[in-house]
Amino acid sequence: MEFRPIPKGKGIRDLYRAADGQPASDDPSKERTATAETAAVEPDQFEVRDPKYRMSDVILPEATRDQITVLLSRIRNHDLIYHQWGLVEVDPIGQSKAVNFYGPPGTGKSMLAEALASELGLRVLDVSYAEIESKYVGDTPKKIRAVFRAVHQATPSPVLLFFDEADAILGRRMTNVTQAADHSVNVSRAVMLKELDLAKGIVVFATNLARNIDAAFVRRIMQHVPVPLPDEPGRFRIWERMITSRVPGREAVDWAALAARSEGLSGGDIRNAVVLALARVAERFGLEQVVRTSDLEQAIKHVRQAKKAIGRRRREPRAWHTTIDRYTFDSGAESNGESDASS
Ligand SMILES: Nc1ncnc2c1ncn2[C@@H]1O[C@H](COP(=O)(O)OP(=O)(O)OP(=O)(O)O)[C@@H](O)[C@H]1O
Ligand SMILES: [Mg+2]
Repeated sequence: MEFRPIPKGKGIRDLYRAADGQPASDDPSKERTATAETAAVEPDQFEVRDPKYRMSDVILPEATRDQITVLLSRIRNHDLIYHQWGLVEVDPIGQSKAVNFYGPPGTGKSMLAEALASELGLRVLDVSYAEIESKYVGDTPKKIRAVFRAVHQATPSPVLLFFDEADAILGRRMTNVTQAADHSVNVSRAVMLKELDLAKGIVVFATNLARNIDAAFVRRIMQHVPVPLPDEPGRFRIWERMITSRVPGREAVDWAALAARSEGLSGGDIRNAVVLALARVAERFGLEQVVRTSDLEQAIKHVRQAKKAIGRRRREPRAWHTTIDRYTFDSGAESNGESDASS
């Protein structure tokens, strides 16, 4: 197979074209005349891009950071461990370089995927599973194959393939298939399993509902890394990081009070509170245009109210930070009887 580099900033539409051996389209008007089905196979929302975050940007508990260190070592020393030290002979499946970041919404899973890419010197092909899922039967498997093909063709400018919101694709296969749509979901999962077996590069999944993962995926994914809600010291650092030294009044902010008041909030919630508070501060004039701890506390209240009013309770355990070490994957025995997660 001939490998061709993916030019920087190319849309996935062109990647699909490249995967099918077609030239890239330079005329966007032609795309608009595509049929609904063609458009579904060639969405243009995705592109290969440089990662935006580094590891130092992501604030994580020690246990998670430790797992990331192991993950990086497994990837960097793959050849040494598997080929020079011969692990491949006893563990051919363990060669997978897929990883799953799991945890509640807004805890930094997408950030972490980008930071991992930075750390490994890779660019990112970001695929939201919700976006490749198609209402046309048979389209989703086609798109999955095309994405993996695009990744193969990215050599020698390798990319990290990131499947965000991957709960649906990694979920249990249905055993009692009654409808064409259910069958199609199973086909998509089977295709994903096969592509994962063949994949050479790093594939990262981000999921919220870790318990629902099909055991076949649990086994193929080399590491499942918990990304929990931040504990108090973590929240302290996230607040400190979000309000930069350019914000007037920063020096008087009581970070400890904010960390204590924001228990149960994710980094994403804290980011939202900061934006709300700074928007209020920006409306003031002169000496009044400073951020105060009370502005941020007020914003925390608003974020909590909004979450309560519109947020739905998720199925994962509430106190992730206290269960992180004991958390295990449901083996999914009733779906296919395979065994549990390796890590
Ligand atoms: N651990 C963290 N450290 C620093 N900032 C964070 C962290 N978690 C979240 N944030 C902030 O919140 C924003 C949203 O985080 P991100 O999108 O990575 O969360 P997520 O876990 O992928 O959420 P979702 O499950 O909803 O996709 C980030 O852009 C960042 O500003
Ligand atoms: Mg995300």
